[in-house]
Amino acid sequence: MNDSVESIVILGGGTAGWMSATYLKKALGDTVHITLVAAPDIPTLGVGEATIPNLQTAFFDFLGIEEDEWMRECNASYKMAIRFVNWRTPGPGRPVPRGSDDGEDEFYHSFGILPYHHGIPLSHYWFDRRWRGRTTRPFDRSCYREPPVMRARKSPRWADGTRATNYAWHFDAHLVADFLRRVATERFGVHHVEDRLEHVRRRPSGFIDAVTTGEGRTLEADLFVDCSGFRGLLINQEMEEPFLDMSDHLLNDSAVATAVPHDDSAHGVEPYTSAIAMPSGWTWKIPMPGRFGTGYVYSSAFATEDEAVRDFCALWGLDPERHQLNRIRFRVGRNRRAWVRNCVGIGTSSCFVEPLESTGIYFIYAALYQLVKHFPDKSFDQVLIDRFNREIEVMFDDTRDFIQAHFHCSPRTDTPFWRANKEIALGEEMREKIRCYDAGLAINAPATDDAQVYYGNFEEEFRNFWNNSNYYSVLAGLGYLPDKPLPKLRHMPEAVETVDRVFDRIRDEQKYLLNTLPSCHEYLNAQHGR
Ligand code: FDA
Repeated sequence: MNDSVESIVILGGGTAGWMSATYLKKALGDTVHITLVAAPDIPTLGVGEATIPNLQTAFFDFLGIEEDEWMRECNASYKMAIRFVNWRTPGPGRPVPRGSDDGEDEFYHSFGILPYHHGIPLSHYWFDRRWRGRTTRPFDRSCYREPPVMRARKSPRWADGTRATNYAWHFDAHLVADFLRRVATERFGVHHVEDRLEHVRRRPSGFIDAVTTGEGRTLEADLFVDCSGFRGLLINQEMEEPFLDMSDHLLNDSAVATAVPHDDSAHGVEPYTSAIAMPSGWTWKIPMPGRFGTGYVYSSAFATEDEAVRDFCALWGLDPERHQLNRIRFRVGRNRRAWVRNCVGIGTSSCFVEPLESTGIYFIYAALYQLVKHFPDKSFDQVLIDRFNREIEVMFDDTRDFIQAHFHCSPRTDTPFWRANKEIALGEEMREKIRCYDAGLAINAPATDDAQVYYGNFEEEFRNFWNNSNYYSVLAGLGYLPDKPLPKLRHMPEAVETVDRVFDRIRDEQKYLLNTLPSCHEYLNAQHGR
């Protein structure tokens, strides 16, 4: 008897559904038959979305789809960092940085691992110099090549297409889902059913046997992937797996979003996501060719929808009566178990954290990678299920903690929202990380600064996703600095003396990139054939 899983039904046709269909079909080939069922009349979530760099290596390369191909199809643009605006100074939402004691109130969280010098990350030399009064330059501009390039709105690729810096992408999520639908159905042979879920048939064991649809179809399968969004129709409603609400860590639960036309030829295209601090949350700005996607992510405990709409429209000078606004409520947290019996939740049916670090789409392909790694046979060995669930748990909780630290470590206390963020407790693991940071140690420093090793291996990156470079960029950017430099540096006089060479090299590279890269607008025009 063949006990291999032979058939999969995916419920939902948003980003999670179509990413699951393409990834699983590519990974499992003709050994499985995949059907995706989605209700055409139930809208998907997608807004203008930002991503992280391994989207290409861990997802599109895996599918065999080149970057330029999907970028053109999805009206995509580049993202070299998240630029945090006004996270240190009090005041109303403003898209431009306020002046602060520490220069302008902005900092960049760029991608990539900081260089090491004598085995110590550059962050730690920067802080040593700053502590001793030997530099006043901010962390991001001292340690990364990208900030001046971003300020000048340059492309992260040279005119011949060669990569110059680390980057990710901005895109219209509806276009991505539609592109992946075509890939799944036309290239990979995924069966697409446009219909609404009506009923779930269970076996006496509690496993799902089949789903039936509004138009009377019965879709049987060995494995069911729930991509039905926040509803969690299979995993939460049918399997009754509890959703662990984590609003005691993260206060934001709502968003008001829209797209704003933008004159790229007059103003250029910003190659970064902006996260602009607001009275009761923050606003994303995600530039794409010809417009930018934007949304105010706020806490309904601290702002009513009307107040959020008022502050959001004031930020961009929009008329709330005339401008179409998308009002979104979301749940924050994760399912206790992402995989129960023969049902796996992927996407927002499984977990969701506010988009401050652009992790939603990453959670989808990271979960797919883990599902393929732990892929079961029809016996559904509990060891595989438990291991998968543990990976998702760690992935999510680690990100939740990192995002909470953004709010917790910001010096802002000017509104009830910002004050409340100081009062809610950090998780125990996060407290330990902050203690290490305060004492001058690196949080989760990768064993090497060799980007080929770290980024060339998804397993390696997944295990240590938020590392010293991320923590330092955000904490130092917020003005939250260690109590003292790494004590070991006092015994490394030669390293401390010679590190100037590394800082000088970064400055030289900044100049070189500024002089040689085309503008982002120019590059995107050529790439998109405009
Ligand atoms: P989604 O809700 O899109 O899809 C659900 C699907 O289920 C739909 O096809 C629907 O028709 C179907 N369905 C529902 N009920 C059904 C039924 N009864 N029968 C049949 N089908 C049914 N991520 C990121 O990486 N970067 C970012 O910048 C952002 N920004 C962002 C902002 C905000 C405000 C939110 C809320 C989310 C983000 N995200 C994000 C997250 C990202 O949007 C999200 O991860 C993806 O869109 C995945 O959504 P899903 O596919 O899980 O659900």
